[in-house]
Formats: sequence, C-alpha cells, structure tokens
Amino acid sequence: MLEVVGIKKVFTSGIFRRRSIEVVRGVSFRVNKGQTLGLVGESGCGKTTVGKMIVRLIEPTAGRILFNGIELTRLDPRKLRKLRPKIQIIFQDPDMAFNPRWKIRDSLGEPFKLNRLVRGREIIDRVLELIETVGLHPEHLNRYPFELSGGQLQRVALARVLALQPELIVADEPTSSLDVSVQAQVLTLLKELQRRFQFTCVFISHDLNVARWMSDRIAVMYRGKIVEEGKTESIFGSPCHPYTRALLGAILVPDPEAGRTWRIASLNHVSPEVNLEKAGGCSFQDRCPHAEKICREKEPPLAVPAPDHRVACHRFKDLVPVQANVTGKVCFL
Ligand SMILES: Nc1ncnc2c1ncn2[C@@H]1O[C@H](COP(=O)(O)OP(=O)(O)O)[C@@H](O)[C@H]1O
Ligand SMILES: [Mg+2]
Repeated sequence: MLEVVGIKKVFTSGIFRRRSIEVVRGVSFRVNKGQTLGLVGESGCGKTTVGKMIVRLIEPTAGRILFNGIELTRLDPRKLRKLRPKIQIIFQDPDMAFNPRWKIRDSLGEPFKLNRLVRGREIIDRVLELIETVGLHPEHLNRYPFELSGGQLQRVALARVLALQPELIVADEPTSSLDVSVQAQVLTLLKELQRRFQFTCVFISHDLNVARWMSDRIAVMYRGKIVEEGKTESIFGSPCHPYTRALLGAILVPDPEAGRTWRIASLNHVSPEVNLEKAGGCSFQDRCPHAEKICREKEPPLAVPAPDHRVACHRFKDLVPVQANVTGKVCFL
C-alpha cells in the first residue's frame, strides 16, 4: 500500500536561489495494494513532480511517503537501494528511456545485471519471457529503439519495468505521445499486466476519460493541490468541485499564450496579475464561476460530501447537482 501524507515541493532558482515556487502544496492520498489511483489535472499542476517524489527521483520539501508502512522519506540510502526496484516509473516519452545505441535485448537485460537478479543464460530466458509478456516477438530483441514504433517502445519500457517485479508503478502519461488507436492497446496491456502481477499503480493523466478507464479512484489536482478525490464512479457520477465539473464538461482548447498548455474553454482564463499566494483563499477563485467573498478570504478545507469522497470547496453544497447519463457524459441539471 502507498500512502502519501502532505507532500510539498518547493523549487528554487536564480542567483542565490532567491526565487522559490511551491509547485506541490500539501498532497495526501492512499492507494491500496493492487489498485490504481488516477492523478489528473491540467499540464503544469504538479502531477509529474508528485510522481517523481513517490519514486524518489526528487526529494520532497516536506511530507511523508509510506510504502507498505515503511517511510521512504526517512530510509537510509542502503535500505532505499534495496527497495528501489520495487517502485518504478514509466514516462510519457519512450524514446528518452532507451539508449539509442543498444539493441532492445541489451536494454531489457540491463535491469537483471544491475540488480544482480539472475545471470548468464537465465538472463536470455527472462528477456525472452518478458518480450512475450508485453505482446512483442523475439525478433524485436535484435532491433534498435529507432526501429520500433512508439507503441512498441512503450511496451518494451513496460517489460523493462516488469523485470524488477515491481510492487508499485507510477505511470506518468504513458500513452500521451501515442496515436489514439495505439494508446488503447497499450492501456489494455497495462491493465492486463496489473491483473496478472498485482502491482499498485499511480496513473497520471491530463485526460479524465483515460484516467476513468484505468483507475479505481481519481484524485483531481489543481495548482499543486488535490481539490477532489474519490472512487472513480463518484467523481464521474457526482463531481462536486467546480474544477472537476469543468474538466468533465470541458472542451480543451490549445492556449497559444501558454505554449504547450491547454485551457478549458468554459472557465475564466487565469489572469496572471492575481498573485494567489498573496491573495489567500481558494486557489481556484480566479477561474471559478461560483467564487464569492469567502473563497477569496479563506482556504477551503477538505469536506466530505459523501462517504469516501473529499472535496476542497466552500460552495459545493450550493451548486446544482449533476447526473451522468447512460453514455457516461455528465450533464448539468
Ligand atoms: N526542476 C524544476 N525546477 C523548477 N520548476 C520546475 C521543475 N520541475 C517542474 N517545475 C515546474 O513545476 C510545475 C509543475 O510541473 P509538473 O510537475 O511537471 O506538472 P504536470 O506534470 O502536472 O504537467 C510547472 O510549473 C513546472 O514548470
Ligand atoms: Mg507531467
């Protein structure tokens, strides 16, 4: 089981590290063994930073991360090294994950050698077994990364992670760089593998529909905080936070001003003049169609709108209820 308690991350930059920005601002959640938590939100809200802190690629500024009751954030380097193979991450871009000069065979054999799991002939057998587990053929082992498609490479990335028999996988937008049709195949594979090997998963996505399909629970992040969290069916069936509702009903349009990021057509565009850290109150106030005085003055605490569901909004009780229709699309009554 994974438990994340109040983790924060402050990045500093500039001369004498005088500029600092808190990109993760106290995130807590729990993922039960063998289950998947979908971590969703727009680009830049801090999802990858959370994922990297979980696998200890970066150090949290504050907070605790517990894995099967062991506090990773306090573990001495030797013990952490032993645990590391059990906690793995897969990134969006499979190209970056491989040495372009190595054949797939060598990339897949590497984790066995590095961790001294097996040696010699047995490595060859295990590599063969792995490539078939992810639906590829032995002949793919003799290829170089550039000779494989994005979908095939992401399968190899999965195989390499599985080599270590992980108990936890953070999948950070693993299919976002793939074509839609290939995306579905890789996600189906990830689900099948999870059923077979029973690993716990944190599935990061900016796409709520993808997260819905993959996850038992969903946590919606906004500007470094979780604004709503609950079972997938509660988040989709009765979303409480105006941001979650906007995401569900959203048409995402490209936002040229912000470069790669997208904005949600139905929300107020973020005004750069509002300095939220100084303003206080709810971090969604400047885009929220329902914001009123209290939202500008007081940070909303996490409320419990229904059993096993959390929302950080002062006004969730005043909003009109929503109902999901048969196609799963949310309509606002
Ligand atoms: N190493 C870093 N140094 C400074 N700022 C960073 C660093 N990594 C990420 N950020 C900033 O933190 C914010 C959150 O980034 P990220 O976690 O990648 O968001 P997401 O994965 O949700 O798109 C962004 O504004 C990003 O520019
Ligand atoms: Mg990211």
